[in-house]
Amino acid sequence: MKKDEKVTIPSILSMKQNGKKIVCLTAYDWLFASILDAAGLDIILVGDSGSMVFAGHKTTLPITMDQMIYHTRAVGRGVEKALLVADMPFMSYQAGIDDAMYNAGRFLKETEAEAVKVEGGEAVAETIQQMVKNGIPVMGHLGLTPQHIHKFGKYRVRGKDSTEAEELIQDAKILEQAGVFSIVLEKIPAELAKKITEHVSVPTIGIGAGTHCDGQILVTHDMLGLYEEFKPKFVRQYAHLAKTIDQAIKKYIEEVQNGDFPSQKESF
Ligand code: KIV
Repeated sequence: MKKDEKVTIPSILSMKQNGKKIVCLTAYDWLFASILDAAGLDIILVGDSGSMVFAGHKTTLPITMDQMIYHTRAVGRGVEKALLVADMPFMSYQAGIDDAMYNAGRFLKETEAEAVKVEGGEAVAETIQQMVKNGIPVMGHLGLTPQHIHKFGKYRVRGKDSTEAEELIQDAKILEQAGVFSIVLEKIPAELAKKITEHVSVPTIGIGAGTHCDGQILVTHDMLGLYEEFKPKFVRQYAHLAKTIDQAIKKYIEEVQNGDFPSQKESF
């Protein structure tokens, strides 16, 4: 793929075959999306993590279809090159295939999204199959699936024991059969992610799943040091923007209070 070519589902699939790492981040608004896209990412995901890092909820569960549509539209205005994927929010695809088809279709009809992401394995395989059959590309998501947080109880590493590991390998194969174009693997041991990556023909995108995945994704607000509520072990902070913003705001307050701002240069 040439440097400025639009990223498509076939080009993502060919990256695995060519051993080229797939680089992904999340976005929730136009401004961030424009910066991320211009920097050269392969995939931009409008994650339901926006429920936490954008809207301040404790989990990803509360965000609604309409809110995800709003965020995806905004992000879509900033994306030219990356593949744009929208997360299907909790209960937008679990209640039945008709519902799931309608909601997935909304992303492709009402926004610039080119694919949707759903969490789960066997339980959602039939739904995924219907979507893919009808022209809606799907990214899967296995391991720590945050929409199941109340079942798990904690955001702990998944697939550490052999039963859970085997289940994840089976689920990955089921998703591949159902027609996903990639699978996010979240918070699982690196060796298990390696095994899954070797067992499926579609790319795996890791988050807390070690180095052997075909690509990596992080929540942008985490890797930029913007969201400091908690810092998972798998996040590398490439900047400390919360601190930078705090310093800038404090300086502004000080300069307004002591009359340094605005100066004559900043006045008419
Ligand atoms: O919602 C999200 O941001 C995600 C990524 C962490 C993969 O699902």
